[in-house]
Amino acid sequence: MDIEEEIRSLQLDSAEDSNGVVNPEDEKPDVDNFDKMDEDPKQEVQAQAVEAEPKEKDTAVQDEVEPEITKRHLNVVFIGHVDAGKSTTGGQILFLSGQVDDRTIQKYEKEAKDKSRESWYMAYIMDTNEEERVKGKTVEVGRAHFETETTRFTILDAPGHKSYVPNMISGASQADIGVLVISARKGEFETGYERGGQTREHVQLAKTLGVAKLLVVVNKMDDPTVNWSKERYDEIESKMIPFLKQSGYNVKKDVLFLPISGLMGSNLKTRMDKSICSWWDGPCLFEALDGIEVPLRDPKSPFRMPLIDKFKDMGTVVMGKVESGTIREGDTLFVMPNKDQVKVVAIYIDENRVKRAGPGENLRVRLSGIEEEDILSGFVLSSVENPIPAVTEFVAQLAILELMDNAIFTAGYKAVLHIHSVVEECEIVELLQQIDPKTRKPMKKKVLFVKNGANVICRVQVNNTICIEKFSDFPQLGRFTLRTEGKTVAVGKVNAL
Ligand code: GTP
Ligand code: MG
Repeated sequence: MDIEEEIRSLQLDSAEDSNGVVNPEDEKPDVDNFDKMDEDPKQEVQAQAVEAEPKEKDTAVQDEVEPEITKRHLNVVFIGHVDAGKSTTGGQILFLSGQVDDRTIQKYEKEAKDKSRESWYMAYIMDTNEEERVKGKTVEVGRAHFETETTRFTILDAPGHKSYVPNMISGASQADIGVLVISARKGEFETGYERGGQTREHVQLAKTLGVAKLLVVVNKMDDPTVNWSKERYDEIESKMIPFLKQSGYNVKKDVLFLPISGLMGSNLKTRMDKSICSWWDGPCLFEALDGIEVPLRDPKSPFRMPLIDKFKDMGTVVMGKVESGTIREGDTLFVMPNKDQVKVVAIYIDENRVKRAGPGENLRVRLSGIEEEDILSGFVLSSVENPIPAVTEFVAQLAILELMDNAIFTAGYKAVLHIHSVVEECEIVELLQQIDPKTRKPMKKKVLFVKNGANVICRVQVNNTICIEKFSDFPQLGRFTLRTEGKTVAVGKVNAL
C-alpha cells in the first residue's frame, strides 16, 4: 500500500476536488462523518490583523476610530532537506532587505573562510551559534524579520537534518506559509526526494501542522551541474507535483514553484536577470511572498496562544503565536491546563510594545499572577470565558506512515505526541475502527492491529494533562504527529475530546 496514497485518503484537510485535494479552508462539511473536516466557520471570517503598524515604541496602538495603516503579518517557515540552502536563502533575504549591513557580511565571509566553509557566509546570518557554523547545519529554528511592500514576515529557518525534525515541527507549527527549498544540484534533489529524505518528511509534516501554502523554490540553479537548466527545473517540478498532491496540497491553488539562487541572490528581491536565466518569466520570491493569500483568522474567537518559551524579565514573560482571538493589555486570562489566572501586563511584537494583538502574531507577553516555574512549553494562554479543554485522553484519526521495523500498530503502542507546542509521551489505549482505504468509511469489524499505511481511529492517552482542541473546531490545535526513535510514524487529527 502506498503510504502517500494513504495520507491522502486520511484527508487530514480535504475532500477531493478536480485536483484530488483541496485547501482545508475551502472545504465544506461532508456527510461522511470520518473524512469530513468540518471547517471551523470562525476560520473563514475574513479579518485583518488587528494590531497597528508601530510608529514608535510604546505607541503602536490601533486607534479604533481612525485606524492607522496596517500591514499584515505572516510567519513563513523555511523547510527542506539538509543543505538545500534554507539558511543561505534566508540570510540573503535579510541582506537584500537591508537587515544586515556589508560590514557584517564581510565579517561572516572571513569567519566562514577561516572555517574552510567559504560559501557558507550567507547562512551565518541565520545560523548564529558556533555549533551550527562549525558543522554547517542549522540546529535551532532561526528567527528573523523582514518586510515587503504589503507584509511583515517572520522567517523561521528550520533545520533540515533528520536528527532535528522535532525542532522543524516546532517551527512549522508556528507558520502560516512555507518556503520549501529544494537543491537542484546533481544528486542533491534526488537524496532529498528519496524515501527517508527530508523533502518528503517536511512536506508531509508541514501539511499536517497547518502550513496552508507552499512556495517551492528550486535553489542552487547557479550550480555548475545545473547552470540554470530549464530541463532540470522542469524535471524537479514534475516529480514534486504528484508528491505534493498526495501530501494534501492543492497544487494549483496553494503551491507556486520558482527557480532561485539563494547564494547569488538571483530571483529573490528583483525579477530574474535575463542574462542569467532567459526562460523564467514568473515572479521573484519577494513578489510571490507578497502575493500570497492566506485565510485570515477571526480576531473575535476565543483567545488561544500555545506557549513555546518563558523567561523572567521584570515578571514572567511568555512567548508564542496567537492561534485565535485577540489579546489586550490588562486582559485577565488563564494559563491552561492549570487554570492559573493571570493579568496581561505588556505585549510585544518584536521590539515594539503594543496594546493589543490578533491571530497569527508571534508575541512576548509579560504576565502577572504566575511564576515562571509554573509554566511549561505546551501550556496555553487562554480566554477565561471559554478556556481550552485540558485532557489526558482523546479520540483521534491516524494515518500510519512508517512503523519502525514494520512493527504492528496495536493497543499499547507508545510514541511521542507533537501537537502545537506540546511534546508528550503517549500511548494508544484502544483501536476503535479502521478506515476502509477504498470507501474511506469506518469498517464494521473489530480491529486489533493495523500495519503501515493504515488509517485508524483510536483512543490516545497521555500521562500529563495537555490542552488541545478538536480538529473541526481549531485545526491548528487539533492536528498532530506521532514520532518514535527520531522518525515520524503517524500523522493525525483530534476527533473527540
Ligand atoms: P541545514 O540547515 O543543515 O538543513 O542546511 P540549509 O538548508 O540551511 O543549507 P545552507 O544554507 O546551510 O547551505 C548548504 C550549502 O549549500 C552551503 O555550502 C551553501 O553555500 C550552499 N548553497 C546554498 N544555496 C546555494 C545556491 O543558491 N547556490 C549554490 N551554488 N550553493 C548554495
Ligand atoms: Mg540551515
